[in-house]
Amino acid sequence: MASKFIASTLEDYRKLYKESTVDPEKFWHEFATEEFIWKRKWNTVLQYDLLKPEIRWFEGAQLNITENCLDRHISELGNKTAIIWEPNNPDESTLHITYKELLSNVNRAANMLKSLGAKKGDRICLYMPMIPELAYAVLACARIGAIHSVVFAGFSAKSLADRINDAQCNIVLTADGGFRGSKVTPLKDIADEALSSCPSVQKCVVVRRTESAVNWHSQRDVWWHEEFAKASDTCEAETMDAEDMLFILYTSGSTGKPKGMVHTCGGYMVWTNFTFRNVFQYKPEDIYWCTADVGWITGHSYILYGPLSAGATTLMFEGIPSYPDMGRFWEVVEKHRVNIFYTAPTAIRSLEASDRSFADSHDLSTLKTLGTVGEPINLEAWEWYDEVIGKKHCPIVDTWWQTETGGIMISSLAGVTPDKPTFATYPMPGVQPAIMDEQGTEVLENPAEGRLCIKFPWPGMARTIYGDHERFRQTYYSTFPGNYFTGDGCKRDENGMYRITGRVDDIVIVSGHNLGTAEIENAINEHPLVNESAVVGYPHDIKGNSIYAFITCIHKPENIETLKREVVDVVSKLIGPIAKPEKIQICTGLPKTRSGKIMRRILRKIASGETDNFGDISTLLNPECVEEIASNRL
Ligand code: WTA
Repeated sequence: MASKFIASTLEDYRKLYKESTVDPEKFWHEFATEEFIWKRKWNTVLQYDLLKPEIRWFEGAQLNITENCLDRHISELGNKTAIIWEPNNPDESTLHITYKELLSNVNRAANMLKSLGAKKGDRICLYMPMIPELAYAVLACARIGAIHSVVFAGFSAKSLADRINDAQCNIVLTADGGFRGSKVTPLKDIADEALSSCPSVQKCVVVRRTESAVNWHSQRDVWWHEEFAKASDTCEAETMDAEDMLFILYTSGSTGKPKGMVHTCGGYMVWTNFTFRNVFQYKPEDIYWCTADVGWITGHSYILYGPLSAGATTLMFEGIPSYPDMGRFWEVVEKHRVNIFYTAPTAIRSLEASDRSFADSHDLSTLKTLGTVGEPINLEAWEWYDEVIGKKHCPIVDTWWQTETGGIMISSLAGVTPDKPTFATYPMPGVQPAIMDEQGTEVLENPAEGRLCIKFPWPGMARTIYGDHERFRQTYYSTFPGNYFTGDGCKRDENGMYRITGRVDDIVIVSGHNLGTAEIENAINEHPLVNESAVVGYPHDIKGNSIYAFITCIHKPENIETLKREVVDVVSKLIGPIAKPEKIQICTGLPKTRSGKIMRRILRKIASGETDNFGDISTLLNPECVEEIASNRL
């Protein structure tokens, strides 16, 4: 495992950083050559034009990522546990799946998909709970060169259908139901509803998990356990070009339509492996646990691909932090003697709000590294994590990155580079951040503040938005031409450490989930009584942000409480419960510019508690409504 590309000291980090920026091609050529198996080597390491943008890493190379995550480990690590699976219900048995077993299950699933007609290049949608079959399915797609599109199992039928239709998936995998705490989500029912408007889907594979009764479409539906049992456990890995698509993963955008971010085989593999090993400083005997869901990028990169390509033992947890009680995470840490623990600030804040005895009553002495991801972590939560969980001896890696970046971009390296509370700190080797001012000029001196861009390609970057390259260019490469624009605001201190301050666009992060305000507005506008709506985020103690919806109605509602309930229901139904507004205010008008654009800036201020200081509102079309909205604030 020792490698000169994995820093063990601050000096190593500085040296790697320098090499990766002075001669990036040489750096990635050597890392990729030494650390992976390729079926064929590349002609060029990097070709790019960030204006188009066009980015190609390892052009001409061929590989299969599953050979790097599975086959190559078998001779030495075949009997090592690859995945520890911890069920939702603590009374059900844990599974320890070895690398050998994982390979054979992935092969079976791959052959099952082939027997159902799957081919290289097909898009396959996975709408599944956090069960081992989800891991098998992801890797099985990669094995046969099908492009997986995992949709988080909390999304509604409409959101699922939109994603299936956007990618024209021909196969969907789901389960009869999913356990989440004391609830069962009827995944098959939701999938059935979605599939009624998805003509591209030929087959639906259903895992039996909750034993819930399901409707059956005999032409279309098959049981996983029946097909899986018939399938052989050897399956040759499909030869993929480095730039072939590996997966699509949808993330919210500033227009209503989610963006299908496309990641490719070679660069993504290299980036997730490099960042996993450097940031977490994984050692061969470590038990590593990332609490994310595979439905999000963190689960893709740091439950599956990164850890598995590094031969790690990765824990996959089906449940939620509060079931059966707020001690569940710590019980699992104790039970499996977890060494590296990676979670989100929203989870940390909700655990912090619970009784301290939940943490104190468990043996957390195996922990040596803690991590956080998904949104800025506030100082109080950072300190609680450091003291109550890390007992002040675990480095905390605050990892800043995005669905679009494929893997971690700015973070300390555990125990190797220094931490600073609430700072993501230094860029990973290979990452060249730039802070831009309002005029689009890079701010070079420290301290600095502005918008965060990345000015040079890195292997894990998304290559396009599925089916809409122009939107990709517009969203990420047009604001600061020649640079990737992250959509985040940031500060850099006198020592060059970065602190991410939050989104500067119309995306709100609620409990770590990215939500596009336009998508929520579109859903609310479906209510027959709603005339117009404007959705903004406002600070929330546990969730980080919450959703505040301002609504105007076609005529005066008879019962405001009923209307509010119906609006919440329509959002749940069209997007999913994660997008429900916490506050809904009925207004007689929304502040607009003379060109008719809703002034969300003013509404954001009102939602977060400011009742004056709105700047010059005299140029608004309807300045009088501002005062009314501010005085009726909820
Ligand atoms: C935010 C999650 C501050 C940021 C991997 C980013 C963070 C968005 C951090 C991407 C962090 C993520 N500190 N903010 N450590 N990590 N973010 O696509 O606003 O779900 O743009 O990817 O989360 O969210 P996404």
